[in-house]
Amino acid sequence: MHIDIITLFPDLFTSVFSHSILQRSQNKGIVSVEFHDLRQYSVNKYKSVDDYAYGGGAGMVMQIEPIANCLKDLKSKRDYDEIIYTSPDGEMLSQGISNELSLMKNICILCGHYKGIDERIREHLITREISIGNYVLSGGELAAAVISDSIIRVIPGVLNDETSALTDSFQNNLVSPPVYSRPYEYNGWKVPDVLISGNQRLIDEWNIEQSLKRTKERRPELL
Ligand code: ADE
Repeated sequence: MHIDIITLFPDLFTSVFSHSILQRSQNKGIVSVEFHDLRQYSVNKYKSVDDYAYGGGAGMVMQIEPIANCLKDLKSKRDYDEIIYTSPDGEMLSQGISNELSLMKNICILCGHYKGIDERIREHLITREISIGNYVLSGGELAAAVISDSIIRVIPGVLNDETSALTDSFQNNLVSPPVYSRPYEYNGWKVPDVLISGNQRLIDEWNIEQSLKRTKERRPELL
């Protein structure tokens, strides 16, 4: 999969994509990611990409030309399955959406800023709008990183068997069961006996029971 991210702050992504699973996915050649500095597509000598909103009101609007020019450039190199705009009024990101996007070949993510982008971009150039929650971020970069991470970790081959995404919370609409590691006892707090029983059938049953119990207690709306 190839992901193009259009942003005013490419440096914000450097660390996120150069650690852990996101880095490994690129080293394995399964994923490639490129960041495109929107200012490079400014149409004036000040390199600005925003202007006042027609009709007035507080806040600046990201202008149509830099974004349209950038997309034109990128589209001349790739056919996109989706061109995503990060926005608090988009559809809410879910495991299902991430699974769906993980099967795609090329996606582009446009990070919003200021008061938003010129509506004509949303109408004519964006194919999907995604929110990562009911709160407003200062910009779309963190949302783009969250979306990319949740997509990349479920691409086949990115995680090894031990960390398979199939056991993640939400993959079956249930949250994950509790997990334990050594030591067996700390401060008098013991690991549940079933987990050291060596009986895989009992362990699997226990995990499912715990998943259901947790989901009922903590996230009943998932059931
Ligand atoms: N940009 C600002 N807030 C956002 C949110 N909650 N989700 C996605 N993009 C955003």
